[in-house]
Amino acid sequence: MKSGIVRRKTIVDIVNLKKVSPVVALTAYTGPVACMLDKHVDILLVGDSLGMVVYGMESTLPVTLDMMIAHGRAVVNASQSACVVVDMPFGSTQASPESAFNACARVLKETGCQAVKIEGGAEMAETIAFLQQRAIPVMGHVALMPQHVHALGGYHYQGRTKKERQKIMKDAIAVEKAGAFAVVLECVEESLAREITAELSIPTIGIGASPTCDGQVLVVDDMIGLTPATPRFVKRYAEVGAVIEQAAAHYAKEVRARKFPGAAHVFNKPKN
Ligand code: KIV
Repeated sequence: MKSGIVRRKTIVDIVNLKKVSPVVALTAYTGPVACMLDKHVDILLVGDSLGMVVYGMESTLPVTLDMMIAHGRAVVNASQSACVVVDMPFGSTQASPESAFNACARVLKETGCQAVKIEGGAEMAETIAFLQQRAIPVMGHVALMPQHVHALGGYHYQGRTKKERQKIMKDAIAVEKAGAFAVVLECVEESLAREITAELSIPTIGIGASPTCDGQVLVVDDMIGLTPATPRFVKRYAEVGAVIEQAAAHYAKEVRARKFPGAAHVFNKPKN
Protein backbone atom coordinates (compact mmCIF):
# COMPACT_ATOMS: atom_id res chain seq x y z
CA MET A 1 0.00 0.00 0.00
CA LYS A 2 2.87 2.42 0.73
CA SER A 3 4.64 4.01 -2.24
CA GLY A 4 7.42 6.62 -2.66
CA ILE A 5 8.98 8.55 0.21
CA VAL A 6 6.56 10.89 1.96
CA ARG A 7 7.47 12.71 5.16
CA ARG A 8 5.02 11.86 7.88
CA LYS A 9 3.55 14.84 9.75
CA THR A 10 4.93 15.24 13.24
CA ILE A 11 3.43 16.69 16.38
CA VAL A 12 5.52 19.83 15.70
CA ASP A 13 3.77 20.24 12.34
CA ILE A 14 0.43 19.94 14.14
CA VAL A 15 1.35 22.57 16.78
CA ASN A 16 2.58 24.90 14.02
CA LEU A 17 -0.82 24.78 12.31
CA LYS A 18 -2.37 26.85 15.12
CA LYS A 19 -3.40 30.24 13.75
CA VAL A 20 -2.17 29.16 10.27
CA SER A 21 -4.61 26.55 9.02
CA PRO A 22 -7.32 24.38 10.59
CA VAL A 23 -6.12 20.94 11.73
CA VAL A 24 -8.01 18.19 9.90
CA ALA A 25 -8.46 14.94 11.80
CA LEU A 26 -10.55 11.82 11.32
CA THR A 27 -10.66 8.54 13.16
CA ALA A 28 -9.40 5.41 11.41
CA TYR A 29 -9.44 1.87 12.71
CA THR A 30 -8.40 -0.29 9.75
CA GLY A 31 -5.70 -0.32 7.08
CA PRO A 32 -7.89 0.18 3.98
CA VAL A 33 -9.74 3.17 5.48
CA ALA A 34 -6.51 4.71 6.83
CA CYS A 35 -4.98 4.41 3.36
CA MET A 36 -7.94 6.28 1.78
CA LEU A 37 -7.93 9.09 4.37
CA ASP A 38 -4.17 9.49 4.74
CA LYS A 39 -3.41 12.18 2.16
CA HIS A 40 -6.46 14.27 3.09
CA VAL A 41 -5.94 14.67 6.83
CA ASP A 42 -3.29 15.95 9.22
CA ILE A 43 -4.13 13.45 11.96
CA LEU A 44 -5.44 9.89 11.85
CA LEU A 45 -6.87 9.18 15.29
CA VAL A 46 -7.19 5.54 16.26
CA GLY A 47 -9.98 6.35 18.68
CA ASP A 48 -11.24 3.99 21.36
CA SER A 49 -14.62 4.77 19.78
CA LEU A 50 -13.71 1.62 17.81
CA GLY A 51 -15.22 -0.31 20.71
CA MET A 52 -18.67 1.01 19.80
CA VAL A 53 -18.19 1.58 16.06
CA VAL A 54 -16.37 -1.65 15.13
CA TYR A 55 -17.14 -4.05 17.98
CA GLY A 56 -20.70 -3.02 18.88
CA MET A 57 -19.89 -2.36 22.54
CA GLU A 58 -22.24 -0.16 24.58
CA SER A 59 -19.47 2.22 25.61
CA THR A 60 -15.71 2.59 25.16
CA LEU A 61 -15.00 1.21 28.63
CA PRO A 62 -14.39 -2.45 27.67
CA VAL A 63 -11.77 -1.56 25.01
CA THR A 64 -8.38 -3.13 25.83
CA LEU A 65 -4.80 -2.04 25.25
CA ASP A 66 -4.27 -5.02 22.94
CA MET A 67 -7.20 -3.92 20.76
CA MET A 68 -5.78 -0.39 20.48
CA ILE A 69 -2.35 -1.76 19.61
CA ALA A 70 -3.69 -4.10 16.90
CA HIS A 71 -5.74 -1.34 15.23
CA GLY A 72 -3.00 1.27 15.76
CA ARG A 73 -0.48 -0.94 13.97
CA ALA A 74 -2.87 -1.49 11.04
CA VAL A 75 -3.41 2.28 10.66
CA VAL A 76 0.31 3.11 10.87
CA ASN A 77 1.21 0.38 8.36
CA ALA A 78 -1.36 1.59 5.83
CA SER A 79 -0.58 5.32 6.05
CA GLN A 80 2.46 7.38 5.23
CA SER A 81 1.77 11.10 5.67
CA ALA A 82 -0.70 11.67 8.51
CA CYS A 83 0.38 11.97 12.13
CA VAL A 84 -1.11 8.87 13.81
CA VAL A 85 -2.44 9.28 17.35
CA VAL A 86 -3.66 6.24 19.31
CA ASP A 87 -6.19 6.56 22.13
CA MET A 88 -5.28 5.10 25.50
CA PRO A 89 -8.17 2.91 26.66
CA PHE A 90 -9.93 3.22 30.01
CA GLY A 91 -7.84 1.82 32.86
CA SER A 92 -4.49 2.04 31.09
CA THR A 93 -3.35 5.46 32.32
CA GLN A 94 -5.32 6.37 35.43
CA ALA A 95 -3.59 4.33 38.18
CA SER A 96 -0.19 6.04 38.20
CA PRO A 97 2.22 7.92 35.92
CA GLU A 98 4.52 4.86 35.95
CA SER A 99 1.83 2.40 34.84
CA ALA A 100 0.67 4.93 32.23
CA PHE A 101 4.25 5.13 30.94
CA ASN A 102 4.42 1.35 30.56
CA ALA A 103 1.12 1.24 28.63
CA CYS A 104 1.99 4.24 26.41
CA ALA A 105 5.49 2.92 25.70
CA ARG A 106 3.93 -0.35 24.48
CA VAL A 107 1.62 1.63 22.18
CA LEU A 108 4.47 3.71 20.71
CA LYS A 109 6.81 0.70 20.32
CA GLU A 110 4.27 -1.79 18.97
CA THR A 111 2.28 0.48 16.63
CA GLY A 112 4.85 3.02 15.41
CA CYS A 113 2.38 5.87 16.07
CA GLN A 114 3.55 9.44 16.78
CA ALA A 115 1.50 10.16 19.90
CA VAL A 116 -1.15 8.94 22.30
CA LYS A 117 -4.40 10.57 23.39
CA ILE A 118 -5.46 10.56 27.03
CA GLU A 119 -8.87 11.57 28.35
CA GLY A 120 -8.79 13.72 31.48
CA GLY A 121 -8.11 17.22 32.76
CA ALA A 122 -6.26 18.54 35.81
CA GLU A 123 -6.32 15.09 37.46
CA MET A 124 -4.20 13.70 34.59
CA ALA A 125 -1.73 16.63 34.47
CA GLU A 126 0.96 14.91 36.56
CA THR A 127 0.77 11.85 34.29
CA ILE A 128 0.87 13.89 31.08
CA ALA A 129 3.96 15.76 32.35
CA PHE A 130 5.63 12.45 33.35
CA LEU A 131 5.01 11.03 29.86
CA GLN A 132 6.01 14.18 28.00
CA GLN A 133 9.33 14.34 29.91
CA ARG A 134 9.97 10.74 28.84
CA ALA A 135 9.44 11.32 25.11
CA ILE A 136 5.79 10.27 24.89
CA PRO A 137 3.81 13.00 23.09
CA VAL A 138 0.29 13.36 24.46
CA MET A 139 -2.88 14.81 22.99
CA GLY A 140 -5.31 15.76 25.76
CA HIS A 141 -9.11 15.31 25.71
CA VAL A 142 -11.37 17.38 27.98
CA ALA A 143 -15.05 18.35 28.45
CA LEU A 144 -17.18 15.36 27.34
CA MET A 145 -14.98 12.35 27.98
CA PRO A 146 -16.73 9.17 26.83
CA GLN A 147 -14.67 7.04 29.27
CA HIS A 148 -16.36 9.06 32.06
CA VAL A 149 -19.86 8.24 30.79
CA HIS A 150 -21.02 6.75 34.10
CA ALA A 151 -19.55 9.60 36.17
CA LEU A 152 -21.04 12.23 33.84
CA GLY A 153 -24.42 10.47 33.76
CA GLY A 154 -24.54 10.18 29.96
CA TYR A 155 -23.23 11.82 26.80
CA HIS A 156 -24.40 15.44 27.26
CA TYR A 157 -22.84 18.58 25.89
CA GLN A 158 -20.61 20.25 28.46
CA GLY A 159 -20.33 23.75 29.86
CA ARG A 160 -23.96 24.46 30.81
CA THR A 161 -23.21 26.09 34.16
CA LYS A 162 -20.59 28.65 35.20
CA LYS A 163 -18.97 26.03 37.46
CA GLU A 164 -18.78 23.49 34.62
CA ARG A 165 -17.32 26.10 32.26
CA GLN A 166 -14.66 27.08 34.80
CA LYS A 167 -13.72 23.43 35.30
CA ILE A 168 -13.38 22.78 31.56
CA MET A 169 -11.20 25.89 31.12
CA LYS A 170 -9.07 24.82 34.13
CA ASP A 171 -8.71 21.30 32.68
CA ALA A 172 -7.64 22.58 29.25
CA ILE A 173 -5.03 24.91 30.80
CA ALA A 174 -3.74 22.13 33.07
CA VAL A 175 -3.35 19.76 30.11
CA GLU A 176 -1.45 22.39 28.13
CA LYS A 177 0.80 23.27 31.10
CA ALA A 178 1.56 19.57 31.57
CA GLY A 179 2.96 19.45 28.04
CA ALA A 180 0.19 18.15 25.78
CA PHE A 181 0.77 19.16 22.13
CA ALA A 182 -2.96 19.52 21.33
CA VAL A 183 -6.27 19.00 23.08
CA VAL A 184 -9.60 17.57 21.95
CA LEU A 185 -12.64 19.57 23.11
CA GLU A 186 -15.69 17.32 22.88
CA CYS A 187 -19.26 18.64 22.95
CA VAL A 188 -18.50 22.14 24.20
CA GLU A 189 -20.71 25.18 23.87
CA GLU A 190 -19.39 27.60 21.22
CA SER A 191 -18.43 30.62 23.35
CA LEU A 192 -16.48 28.40 25.76
CA ALA A 193 -14.66 26.68 22.88
CA ARG A 194 -13.72 30.14 21.56
CA GLU A 195 -12.40 31.25 24.96
CA ILE A 196 -10.34 28.08 25.44
CA THR A 197 -8.93 28.31 21.90
CA ALA A 198 -7.88 31.94 22.53
CA GLU A 199 -6.35 31.07 25.91
CA LEU A 200 -4.24 28.09 24.80
CA SER A 201 -1.12 28.17 22.66
CA ILE A 202 -1.62 24.53 21.55
CA PRO A 203 -4.28 23.63 18.95
CA THR A 204 -7.78 22.79 20.15
CA ILE A 205 -9.39 20.04 18.07
CA GLY A 206 -13.16 20.17 18.29
CA ILE A 207 -15.82 17.51 17.98
CA GLY A 208 -19.21 19.05 18.54
CA ALA A 209 -17.34 22.13 19.72
CA SER A 210 -18.00 24.69 16.95
CA PRO A 211 -15.79 26.14 14.20
CA THR A 212 -14.01 28.36 16.74
CA CYS A 213 -11.60 25.48 17.49
CA ASP A 214 -8.23 25.26 15.74
CA GLY A 215 -9.21 21.99 14.10
CA GLN A 216 -11.95 19.41 13.73
CA VAL A 217 -12.20 15.66 14.24
CA LEU A 218 -15.08 13.31 13.44
CA VAL A 219 -15.65 9.58 13.75
CA VAL A 220 -15.15 8.48 10.16
CA ASP A 221 -18.03 5.97 10.17
CA ASP A 222 -20.42 8.79 11.18
CA MET A 223 -19.00 11.10 8.51
CA ILE A 224 -19.41 8.58 5.66
CA GLY A 225 -22.82 7.26 6.71
CA LEU A 226 -21.83 3.84 8.00
CA THR A 227 -23.46 4.31 11.40
CA PRO A 228 -27.27 4.22 11.59
CA ALA A 229 -27.76 7.29 13.82
CA THR A 230 -25.41 10.24 14.03
CA PRO A 231 -25.21 12.98 16.65
CA ARG A 232 -26.35 16.51 15.70
CA PHE A 233 -22.81 17.85 15.36
CA VAL A 234 -21.95 15.33 12.62
CA LYS A 235 -22.31 16.15 8.95
CA ARG A 236 -22.73 13.08 6.73
CA TYR A 237 -20.56 13.64 3.67
CA ALA A 238 -21.56 10.31 2.06
CA GLU A 239 -24.04 7.46 2.47
CA VAL A 240 -21.61 4.56 2.14
CA GLY A 241 -23.89 2.30 4.20
CA ALA A 242 -26.61 2.60 1.54
CA VAL A 243 -24.09 1.79 -1.23
CA ILE A 244 -22.95 -1.36 0.62
CA GLU A 245 -26.56 -2.46 1.14
CA GLN A 246 -27.37 -1.95 -2.54
CA ALA A 247 -24.30 -3.95 -3.56
CA ALA A 248 -25.22 -6.79 -1.17
CA ALA A 249 -28.81 -6.88 -2.47
CA HIS A 250 -27.59 -6.93 -6.09
CA TYR A 251 -25.10 -9.73 -5.33
CA ALA A 252 -27.72 -11.82 -3.51
CA LYS A 253 -30.17 -11.40 -6.40
CA GLU A 254 -27.58 -12.50 -8.98
CA VAL A 255 -26.43 -15.52 -6.95
CA ARG A 256 -30.03 -16.67 -6.51
CA ALA A 257 -30.72 -16.17 -10.23
CA ARG A 258 -27.46 -18.04 -11.07
CA LYS A 259 -26.21 -14.92 -12.88
CA PHE A 260 -23.10 -14.73 -10.71
CA PRO A 261 -20.48 -16.03 -11.22
CA GLY A 262 -20.60 -15.24 -14.94
CA ALA A 263 -18.24 -16.49 -17.65
CA ALA A 264 -15.62 -13.84 -16.76
CA HIS A 265 -15.34 -15.15 -13.20
CA VAL A 266 -14.91 -18.86 -13.99
CA PHE A 267 -11.67 -20.85 -14.32
CA ASN A 268 -11.88 -23.10 -17.38
CA LYS A 269 -9.62 -26.02 -18.26
CA PRO A 270 -6.99 -24.82 -20.83
CA LYS A 271 -7.72 -26.02 -24.39
CA ASN A 272 -4.84 -28.19 -25.74
O1 KIV B 1 -12.45 7.76 20.45
C1 KIV B 1 -12.60 8.66 19.61
O2 KIV B 1 -12.91 8.43 18.44
C2 KIV B 1 -12.38 10.04 20.06
C3 KIV B 1 -12.77 11.14 19.14
C4 KIV B 1 -14.23 11.16 18.95
C5 KIV B 1 -12.24 12.44 19.56
O3 KIV B 1 -11.93 10.25 21.12
